[in-house]
Amino acid sequence: MSKRGYFITFEGIDGCGKTTQLENVRRFFEEKGQKCVTTREPGALKLGSQIREILLHYDGEVANNCEMFLFLADRSQHVETFIKPMLEQGITVLCDRHTDSTIAYQGYGRNGDIKKLEELNNIAVNGLKPDLTLLFDVSVETGHQRAGKDLDRLELAGKDFFERTRNGYLELAKKYPERIKVINSEKSKESVYNDVKSLIIDLIRKG
Ligand code: TYD
Repeated sequence: MSKRGYFITFEGIDGCGKTTQLENVRRFFEEKGQKCVTTREPGALKLGSQIREILLHYDGEVANNCEMFLFLADRSQHVETFIKPMLEQGITVLCDRHTDSTIAYQGYGRNGDIKKLEELNNIAVNGLKPDLTLLFDVSVETGHQRAGKDLDRLELAGKDFFERTRNGYLELAKKYPERIKVINSEKSKESVYNDVKSLIIDLIRKG
């Protein structure tokens, strides 16, 4: 039996630079000759892409609980039909957003019930937990500048929403310091990647 792959999640507010770093980490594993796939939430799979379309582009009103259940539905399908099977085959999975996005955005951002969201997340992941979560921390101003003008429905939610979301992420990092590592991402891409690389090397060392 091959060793289970690592499950690494990439988190942060919109425009934090996590997707660029995810690509760097994919190259890092590839250069080491270790199997690795990249994926994202919401919307990695066929069913998920239909959910993503509603979440990001539906132009009518979406009730908060409806939004929450759509993210969770997408996650459950993603975990059971893609992430777990990959990990079991010894393949490392790099995932752009996962459970912490729901707590930060729907919980802290939209003032949802954090405890209830954690319970619902647990149902959606059914025992799966990231080995490492990289939290790319930037100010809301930096995030908005980097995200550019192409704002979708969620990004139009406003500055206060993103301030609450960012603070929510930082609260989560305090609560789970072993798993969630905060990376100051105001710096250059190269400098951020140096921090990322040391965390990945630590993870591999621990085995
Ligand atoms: P996306 O275009 O993938 O943005 P990004 O490149 O920043 O990840 O859009 C995903 C949006 O969905 C993003 O604004 C965060 C939000 N989101 C939630 O609100 N809750 C969740 O559980 C997830 C996974 C994402």
